[in-house]
Amino acid sequence: MEQKVRRIGVLTSGGDAPGMNAAVRAVVRAAVGRSIECIGIRRGWNGLITNDFVRMGNITVSHIINKGGTVLYTARSDEFMQVSGQDKALATCKLLGLDAIVAIGGDGTFRGALDLSRRAAEKGYALQVAGIPATIDNDIGCSHYTIGFDTACNTAIECIDKLRDTMQSHERCSVVEVMGRHAGYLALNVGLSIGATAVLVPERELDFDQDVVENIRRARLAGTTHFMVVVAEGAGSALEIGQRIHDEIGLDPRVTVLGHIQRGGAPTMQDRVTASRMGYTAVQAIIEGKGNCVVATKEGRLVIIEMEEALQMKKDFDMNGYAILEALTNNHSAR
Ligand code: F6P
Repeated sequence: MEQKVRRIGVLTSGGDAPGMNAAVRAVVRAAVGRSIECIGIRRGWNGLITNDFVRMGNITVSHIINKGGTVLYTARSDEFMQVSGQDKALATCKLLGLDAIVAIGGDGTFRGALDLSRRAAEKGYALQVAGIPATIDNDIGCSHYTIGFDTACNTAIECIDKLRDTMQSHERCSVVEVMGRHAGYLALNVGLSIGATAVLVPERELDFDQDVVENIRRARLAGTTHFMVVVAEGAGSALEIGQRIHDEIGLDPRVTVLGHIQRGGAPTMQDRVTASRMGYTAVQAIIEGKGNCVVATKEGRLVIIEMEEALQMKKDFDMNGYAILEALTNNHSAR
C-alpha cells in the first residue's frame, strides 16, 4: 500500500565507491518524479548530527552520473554509534520532516540506519530507512553485488597490466596488494582477470610453499620469466610476502600497494546501471511502505530484503572461482 511520503533524506556513508553519485542521482530523480522532496545529508551520518544538509533537485544531480567519489561527501561516524548521537540525528529528522532516509554504503551504514529507525519508533516517530549496498570490497552478506566493485576491479586490472609490462621486460616478480578489507573478492576477480601466478585471499589459509613458491616454480619451469602475485590486504602484507619470496627462492620482487587509487575514477557501465536501478527501487520501496529494507542483488536481479534479515546474511566466498583460477594457473606442465 502506498504511503504518504513528503520528504526523503539521502546520504553516503563509509568508504566512498564509484557509482555512489549515480545512486544519489537516481534517488533524487525518482523522488522528485513522484513529487517527493529530497534532502541531501552531507558527510554521512555526521550530517544528521550536525544539521549539515542541502536541498536537492533534478538539476543539482545533473552531470554526476559519470563521476567517482560522492558529491555528498562521506564519513565514518563514531558519534552516531552512540544513542546520544542517534538522538541528535533524530532531532534533525524531525526538524526537517524526513519520512525516510536512503543510506548508501556498507553494512556499518545499514546497522546505523536500523538503529536510528528503531530509536525513532521508540519515540513514536515513523522513519523508514532503505539501504543501497556500495563498497569496492563487495563484502556485504545480503547482496551478490555492491556498487563500486566493478570499477575498482577494472582500476586495479589497468594498473597491474601496466606493472606486468615492466615486470616482463626486466624478468621480475611483482607482488601487488589490493584492497578488500577482510574480504578477498577484489583480489580473486582481479587475479582471474590478469592471469596471476598466485592470489592470496583471507578466505583461504595460506600454504606459502604450495600457493606461492610452487606456482612460481611451475611458471618458471614452463618458461615464464616474470611472475604476478596478487595479495588481498586482508590476507597479509605484500611487503612481507615479497620478502618471503626473496628469502625462500632468491627472487628480488618489486612490491606495489595499489591503495586508494582503487576507490576513484569514473564508474563503469555496471556500476552506473546498478546504482540507477537500486536508487530508483529504494524510493519505490519507501513509497510502497516496505519499511526498513536493503535493495540487494541476487543472481543479477534486484531483491528487497528486510533490513534486520539483511544484516544477518552471510555471503559464501567464490571457492569455485578460486578453483578455476588455480586450474588455469597450475597447468603449465601440460603444455
Ligand atoms: O571499505 C573500503 C576500503 O577501501 C577497504 O578496502 C579498505 O580496507 C578501507 O576502505 C580503507 O579505509 P580508509 O579509506 O579509511 O583508509
